Amino acid sequence: MTEKPWDGRFAEKTDRLVEAFTSSHQVDRRLYRHDIEGSVAHCRMLAKVGVISEGEAGDLVTGLMRIGRDIERGRFEFSDSLEDIHMHIEARLLQDVGKVAQKLHTARSRNDQVALDTRLFAREETRAVIAQLRGLRRVVVDLAGAHTGTFMPGYTHLQRAQPVLLAHHLMAYYEMFTRDQARFADALQRIDVMPLGAAALAGTTYPIDRHYTAELLGFSEVAANSMDAVSDRDFILEFLSAASIAMVHLSRLSEELVLWSTAEFGFIELPDAFATGSSIMPQKKNPDVPELMRGKAGTVFGDLMALLTLVKGLPLAYNRDMQEDKAPLFRSVDTLRACLEITARMLPRIRFRDDRLRQATEHGFFNATDLADYLVGQGVPFRKAHACVGQAVAYGLEHGKELHELSLEELRNFASVVGPEIFELLTVEQMINRRRSYGGTAAEQVEAAIAEARRRLDGETEVPK
Ligand code: ARG
Repeated sequence: MTEKPWDGRFAEKTDRLVEAFTSSHQVDRRLYRHDIEGSVAHCRMLAKVGVISEGEAGDLVTGLMRIGRDIERGRFEFSDSLEDIHMHIEARLLQDVGKVAQKLHTARSRNDQVALDTRLFAREETRAVIAQLRGLRRVVVDLAGAHTGTFMPGYTHLQRAQPVLLAHHLMAYYEMFTRDQARFADALQRIDVMPLGAAALAGTTYPIDRHYTAELLGFSEVAANSMDAVSDRDFILEFLSAASIAMVHLSRLSEELVLWSTAEFGFIELPDAFATGSSIMPQKKNPDVPELMRGKAGTVFGDLMALLTLVKGLPLAYNRDMQEDKAPLFRSVDTLRACLEITARMLPRIRFRDDRLRQATEHGFFNATDLADYLVGQGVPFRKAHACVGQAVAYGLEHGKELHELSLEELRNFASVVGPEIFELLTVEQMINRRRSYGGTAAEQVEAAIAEARRRLDGETEVPK
């Protein structure tokens, strides 16, 4: 059993069961790079203010870098008796560089250390998620650009409502992913705050320079209150909230892909590489990828709930409960990033069955609103027009005819003002292209939206700050 930093005060050795129970290295070893980066900056700062010598800092930094390489190559042994990644690295440093290692933890506590590591990790991952969302938006815009001439039914209540362009439907997801990206960019401002130097909770008596540490690590801000610095987990909550909302969007898209790939809809064919078969029914091709994405949304919401619940009853400042914050964060990062990547790769390979989409716009009284709007143009009040068309629809249903299949005489039975020009207005093309209001489905509006989205994407900087 290894010695513990707190052995001086303790009469008994830690129970093995307790060592296993309190250890977190299985999870937080993922932070080793961030831990080393933070420790290197801490050493440099300590040397700059004269708490340790430049020579000592040099030895510590060299030792830390070597440990980083060893962990990278799997040449590092982990043990429950050393609890977490922070203690593992410090213990190894002592072995490697000797007594000077005992100075590394001057003016620092694991409380501010773990807060720093987690922020460095969250910052890196948030930037990566932002880049992925930007890539996905481009995929969606390109797909929409290829389908500005494809008609499909638009739905409300999952009942056929009015025809739209497939491009318009797809661009709705562009909007969602744009908001998701903005949410992560906003969260990033509060992730990008440097907590080190708060020490255990109250700050430190050493003449440290926290702004210098922040500069070395590229942070925009320094946490202003030491107690908040070690106990704030809002930044993870914000990441998980943004991740949950992004997963809602991916899940809604997935749900549509699942529906559209059924024989009942038959709107799309999923690429074979992104589908699976059945072990018993040879004819099947299952949409497991979007199904799993829909399912994984639930695990991300669960991670958000876990962390909200974890933090809600905690008195200031650090409490060990907080050690449980990392598993949900890591799991959600992995889930979200995998879902973003797979969606971006799958979407361009989906085959849209334009004929089926188009056919689906030809039945279901899509043009009822247009007939009513026409009557309004002829001076009929909208409510009255609505009622007349309702009667015409009921008649059509009874006789197995769509509105545009009724004769002028039949239509006139319901509204005497109808003229022969009505038939031109009841075509799918007209229904779509007359919806020219800003943000509507008319081709000119959708093309403008696509052009605007492309301009925006081109104008965005590659690496978000
Ligand atoms: N492994 C711990 C965590 O993740 C590090 C901080 C431990 N601090 C303490 N006072 N025991 O929260």
